[in-house]
Amino acid sequence: MADVDVSSILARMTQAPFSPLEPSDRLLVGPGPSNVPESVREVMQRSQLGHLDPEFWDICSEVAAMLAQVYRRPSGLSFPLSATGTSGIEAVLCGLVAPGETAIVAVAGFFGSRIAEIARRRGAKVVAIEAPLGQAVPNEAILDALARHPEARLVAVVHAETSTGVRHPLRELAQALAGSDTLLFADCVTSLAGIELEPEAWGVDACASCTQKCLGAPPGMSPLSLSERALERIRARDEPVPLSLDLELVGRYWFERPAPYHHTAPILHVYALHEALRLVLEEGLEARWQRHEEVGRYLQAELRARGFELLADEAVQLPQLSAVRVPEGIDGPEVQRRLAREHGIEVGGGLGPSAPPIWRIGTMGVNATVEVADRVLEALDAVVAHRRRLAPASR
Ligand SMILES: Cc1ncc(COP(=O)(O)O)c(C=O)c1O
Repeated sequence: MADVDVSSILARMTQAPFSPLEPSDRLLVGPGPSNVPESVREVMQRSQLGHLDPEFWDICSEVAAMLAQVYRRPSGLSFPLSATGTSGIEAVLCGLVAPGETAIVAVAGFFGSRIAEIARRRGAKVVAIEAPLGQAVPNEAILDALARHPEARLVAVVHAETSTGVRHPLRELAQALAGSDTLLFADCVTSLAGIELEPEAWGVDACASCTQKCLGAPPGMSPLSLSERALERIRARDEPVPLSLDLELVGRYWFERPAPYHHTAPILHVYALHEALRLVLEEGLEARWQRHEEVGRYLQAELRARGFELLADEAVQLPQLSAVRVPEGIDGPEVQRRLAREHGIEVGGGLGPSAPPIWRIGTMGVNATVEVADRVLEALDAVVAHRRRLAPASR
């Protein structure tokens, strides 16, 4: 491990007593987490059941049933891993690719590189197909790679690349892969419950997401969705995978009754996910996709009208994540600090050493409203005051 300076932390050991926490209120419009609706926060204060209590199993069954609806996957299995999105991706990759097997990975940003890195650590032979930041890897390039590597066991893409604001044309890729023995995995961390996603209808075998973005729960769980043939591959595998990432065991814990002990589920997070999914279904998936679409397009039009440039090509621009190029002569991180300090607003910066100077603005979950977009725009106007003002775009 790299040397780290822990002296300031150790110095705190003598600081006593510690006070109860009172975190600041923030409008979380970065790349995630987004703000958590009141009812999701409230449900986490209800009585904690034990994780092997049949009453808790009923809650888990409802979570799985709602997840299958939000993932629109009536067959196969949908259930959450008790971990964040990264581990969900790792668990799926461990299940679908064995050491020495080939995986084709589309890389056009930080999270595509992450998938490639996870697959390499699994011992897979990774064929990375790259595109410049702001673009999607063309599906033709992925299909060419598959023609050159027909032995590939998996094609992996990021549906919504949070580091650039780009949407991968996933439906088209899945359709082009129809009939192939190569499975298709999509990182749906930023897409689930925010933009159209129909894994079963399109033919996407495996998806991993998180709870803290368009779903609107706190971070801590990774909703997964697996097709029948992904499950077959997972069951047929004979190389060991890390126990906590073994999706066959995790699946049994979620679906067998009585549940065989695998780990202790984070019970209050399961309550939160239950409420978040309930809210998504109450709103309606299409209505939620539409809300994210309208607010994202409104924000982006207003940003362009102010002279800001977006990183993503317009044709593949996600609605829920706008990566805004920091204009020449402006200190991007300082603007972020002032937005937080003076306006209580968190926006993200570039991710990773190769990121260009950008701000990443997320309008996800409860924050996908015109009111929130206007609050962000007003704050940006105030902080980046010397920008030339152009006429605001019409709504
Ligand atoms: C596209 C994408 N994939 C994976 C992850 C990793 O998820 P987590 O931070 O929950 O581990 C993120 C997190 O921002 C993401 O945006």
